[in-house]
Amino acid sequence: MDFVDSKRKNNFSVRIFLAAFLVSLSIFWFKSPTYSSPNLFSRPEGGVTHVLVTGGAGYIGSHASLRLLKDSYRVTIVDNLSRGNLGAVKVLKELFPEPGRLQFIYADLGDKQAVNKIFSENAFDAVMHFAAVAYVGESTLQPLRYYHNITSNTLLVLEAMAAHKVKTLIYSSTCATYGEPEKMPITEETEQVPINPYGKAKKMAEDIILDFSKNSDMAIMILRYFNVIGSDPEGRLGEAPRPELREQGRISGACFDAARGIIPGLKVKGTDYKTTDGTCVRDYIDVTDLVDAHVKALTNAKPGKVGIYNVGTGKGRSVREFVEACKKATGVDIKVEYLDRRPGDYAEVYSDPSKIAQELNWTAKYTNLQESLGIAWKWQSSHLNGYGPQTL
Ligand SMILES: NC(=O)c1ccc[n+]([C@@H]2O[C@H](COP(=O)([O-])OP(=O)(O)OC[C@H]3O[C@@H](n4cnc5c(N)ncnc54)[C@H](O)[C@@H]3O)[C@@H](O)[C@H]2O)c1
Repeated sequence: MDFVDSKRKNNFSVRIFLAAFLVSLSIFWFKSPTYSSPNLFSRPEGGVTHVLVTGGAGYIGSHASLRLLKDSYRVTIVDNLSRGNLGAVKVLKELFPEPGRLQFIYADLGDKQAVNKIFSENAFDAVMHFAAVAYVGESTLQPLRYYHNITSNTLLVLEAMAAHKVKTLIYSSTCATYGEPEKMPITEETEQVPINPYGKAKKMAEDIILDFSKNSDMAIMILRYFNVIGSDPEGRLGEAPRPELREQGRISGACFDAARGIIPGLKVKGTDYKTTDGTCVRDYIDVTDLVDAHVKALTNAKPGKVGIYNVGTGKGRSVREFVEACKKATGVDIKVEYLDRRPGDYAEVYSDPSKIAQELNWTAKYTNLQESLGIAWKWQSSHLNGYGPQTL
């Protein structure tokens, strides 16, 4: 009897243990993210194109993400927030809160392990590689940072793409890879002789991509942008560089800072260039047009083919013209000081965009400087602290 009793007792404890085990297993199973909310980013889905946008918290990357999301792409943003703004990602997240639309991953693209983890945990169809440090002046002071951040990180991203069989790459390059060509306009055939570490680092990254492409069936598009201005016409996103980068800044940022009284005025360097009004001439491309070029590049990318395109308006605008447009757009009579030339500046840079017009059916539409600057000013003047503090 004793024996039987103890056997029963044992059976009872085993049953209790088993039941408890099964209950905890089911709780664990239910709570695990793959059960309760399948991770839509980790597996391919028919009819959905999943794009990794590196640098998507930055100026151009956030605008590109907005356009992709509007066009029903699935977007993963990877950014180390060294220059970008979490606030921009939050705006996107609020606009597209549904599961499987947008995820943000905080990571540094120089961290090989992190990059490989991201690629092994996500099913990307394409990569738009925007992430970079991108100031010519800064690149002359910190060249190694530029070669590391641009050239070496692009190599890491490309290796991860190849290892995980990601099919399409859209690469952000720049007219700075051309250096100072004598003949204008600049075509894609113009020889690339960059004159600063920023342009050289981008050219090296292009070379790596081109060498790789010779034995790969990856679809590759290299877009060489001219000077990017403007912001989302609906006022949801803007350009908000770190205050400490003001010194390095671009002309539109300087105009707005002058209009807001953050700096006393504008300093235009050089009035004796051989241009229509003596000031330098540049090709200003609106960010809305630029992201449209990216979407066209993505939809036209072909396996095993490389497309290289200038993205500009084809029209040079002088600095004097730009300043006048900025005064009108902001309604502020910005003080302008005309000074001697700055060494290293070249007189004229503008694109020949006919190749992208013919092959991708893309042309710039936002070509009214005052209008583009007016849109950007609207955002700037209603976001005096940019996107605000970087809090999660
Ligand atoms: N703005 C222009 O006029 C212009 C012109 C030609 C080319 N481009 C190119 O366009 C791209 C985007 O430029 P932007 O003006 O939006 O610059 P941006 O500084 O606003 O954005 C770059 C983003 O990349 C992120 N980033 C930088 N290094 C990173 C790293 N190691 N890991 C993860 N994230 C990192 C930054 O935090 C930032 O959010 C760059 O590749 C730039 O070279 C820009």
